[in-house]
Amino acid sequence: MQKIRVCVNGYGTIGKRVADAVALQPDMELVGVTAHSMNYRIDTAYRHKGFNIFSLDGEVYKELEANGIKVSGSLDELLGSVDVIDDCSPKNGVKNKEIYQQRGVKAVFQGGEKKNIASDSFVSQCDYSRALGKDYLRVVSCNTTALCRTLHAIDKKYGVNHAHGVLLRRGTDSHDNRRGPINAIESSSEKPSHHGEDVRTVLERLQIFTTAYIVPTTLMHMHDLMLDMRDAHFDVNDIIELLNATPRILVLKSNHGIESTAQVMDYHRDLLRNPRGDVYETGILDGAIGIYRVHGYNRLFITQCVHQESNVVPENIDAIRAVMGFDDSKIPEEYRSRVEAAREAYMKSPLHSGLTDDKMEEVNPSRIITDITLNIFKGI
Ligand SMILES: NC(=O)c1ccc[n+]([C@@H]2O[C@H](COP(=O)([O-])OP(=O)(O)OC[C@H]3O[C@@H](n4cnc5c(N)ncnc54)[C@H](OP(=O)(O)O)[C@@H]3O)[C@@H](O)[C@H]2O)c1
Repeated sequence: MQKIRVCVNGYGTIGKRVADAVALQPDMELVGVTAHSMNYRIDTAYRHKGFNIFSLDGEVYKELEANGIKVSGSLDELLGSVDVIDDCSPKNGVKNKEIYQQRGVKAVFQGGEKKNIASDSFVSQCDYSRALGKDYLRVVSCNTTALCRTLHAIDKKYGVNHAHGVLLRRGTDSHDNRRGPINAIESSSEKPSHHGEDVRTVLERLQIFTTAYIVPTTLMHMHDLMLDMRDAHFDVNDIIELLNATPRILVLKSNHGIESTAQVMDYHRDLLRNPRGDVYETGILDGAIGIYRVHGYNRLFITQCVHQESNVVPENIDAIRAVMGFDDSKIPEEYRSRVEAAREAYMKSPLHSGLTDDKMEEVNPSRIITDITLNIFKGI
């Protein structure tokens, strides 16, 4: 099997996690990561992980070598030896894309980029097949990814007439000592916020609007969703059963004492599923699921927690496979039986729409392999 040769450009919050995940994939080779400056992340990548480091310019090259990092080459040289570049730079995608285009290298971009950076926006369990073989994909933001995973499952099963999401966004990421707020709640002046529109780049027909606030925390975002439903034939247990069956969603138990983002993060550090205690899934608080059926309303309430630093990592891995046209014919032998078992389980699960043309995006082969390697596989 020829491995997909991948590099990561932009080794920050998202890039370092994507690089680690690429290194775990049986069908991928991490050729290298780029350095934009000398810092502890690059030092760790080189010294502790053994990653090849490529410098973005001559000044950085000198700085890296002065700090004992043997530079493997320039971005230009790196592009000559990869199939896909995963661009995790801070909104530099448009400029970078010109370089990738000149070198004929496929690229995956992040949600901070404008939607037209690529022909398609991407959430693996919603639209994998649409993305197959594309040259460029945009993995949507952490907020949009979480919204799409949940809303796709609920809409497919019970029909969402209209969704309103209130997004409580973390002030900054956990390593950052510069941004805030540290003692205020900021309302976004953008009403509705752009997140709802971004959801429609993936779930085109969904009626949704969002409003957003920034709150003084670094742990996670929290979403308060109010969904006006078409089908009235469900109760809280049906929703829990559906979300339990949905990939990349974790229903978190209030009777286990999980009632805030603090416990969600602590729980994941205890689980030891990955070295950083990252939460790749969207966490749904079961105690905060509610239904309001009065005066013609059939409204479902969901509260979800989003680990902004990591929930797009599995999507990046699937996007890399998707641009390379990864389908059933390319499943490594050792994963074949698990993909088949997952598909069988899907047909019996509440996720299956019952329609003969159900495309089963939820069990696309890449998603299964990614979830097994990242330790988040649920069996369907
Ligand atoms: N953090 C989140 O919560 C989150 C969640 C989902 C999606 N995203 C999206 O992911 C992308 C990356 O965000 P991030 O949070 O990972 O940013 P970040 O932590 O600031 O990391 C960006 C990295 O890229 C490097 N860099 C700067 N300019 C560059 C250039 N011209 N070319 C290549 N690399 C460059 C930076 O180098 P230095 O170390 O020298 O600064 C840094 O290492 C953005 O589109 C963002 O919207 C972020």
